[in-house]
Amino acid sequence: MKKIVIAIDGFSSSGKSTMAKDLAKSIGYIYIDTGAMYRAVTLYCLMNGIITDKGINTDLLESEIGKIRIDFKNNETTGRRETILNGVNVEEDIRKMDVANWVSPIATIGFVRRALVALQQKMGERKGIVMDGRDIGTVVFPNAELKLFITASPEVRAQRRVDELKAKGEQVSYEEVLENIKTRDHIDSTRKESPLKQADDAIVLDNSAMTIDEQKAWLLVQYKKAIEE
Ligand code: DC
Repeated sequence: MKKIVIAIDGFSSSGKSTMAKDLAKSIGYIYIDTGAMYRAVTLYCLMNGIITDKGINTDLLESEIGKIRIDFKNNETTGRRETILNGVNVEEDIRKMDVANWVSPIATIGFVRRALVALQQKMGERKGIVMDGRDIGTVVFPNAELKLFITASPEVRAQRRVDELKAKGEQVSYEEVLENIKTRDHIDSTRKESPLKQADDAIVLDNSAMTIDEQKAWLLVQYKKAIEE
């Protein structure tokens, strides 16, 4: 069967990762979470004195960017794909609030984006992938056969994120998360380098009032249409 590239872009906590992961599993495609890659670079910066009280030392980051290796590995027990930073599994650490608070400014840096986009394009060379992020349909794979843009209200997204963090035992307030989401939306959509915007040929879905099962079913229909074309 014809293999395609599926690009899923959208706002933070819009549920796009859940949708992308699920679709990849049901159609036997590889799933790539590009947000995890920006988060891994951010974690590296926090661990190596590149992010300090004074902010981001971009010169130091530029000199070290070549040392940052990011891979994904399947966890045989959970079936989940996990993020590996220089050989260490960082899947849990990259989801914490300190990383969330710094990842948007890191993602505005041109040389960081160029390095990660090149890696993402290599990962998708053989097609058969579902990739989610902010610039997949616009910059990484402008020729993707199927492009989706997922959105939901900031309040719905904040509540989903609070539920997710609480399930992992992290204590966060709804207000703090809502503030973080609004700030990230603003930085992500107004930055100079590849701002978050929907591709002209993307199909838009506002999933504020949809259940996960409804989203899954909708996505599968889009995939079937795309491979028939
Ligand atoms: O999807 P996420 O919340 O894990 O993404 C983390 C951050 O990385 C988010 O603030 C935007 C940025 N990002 C990006 O700029 N480009 C991508 N392709 C993916 C994520």
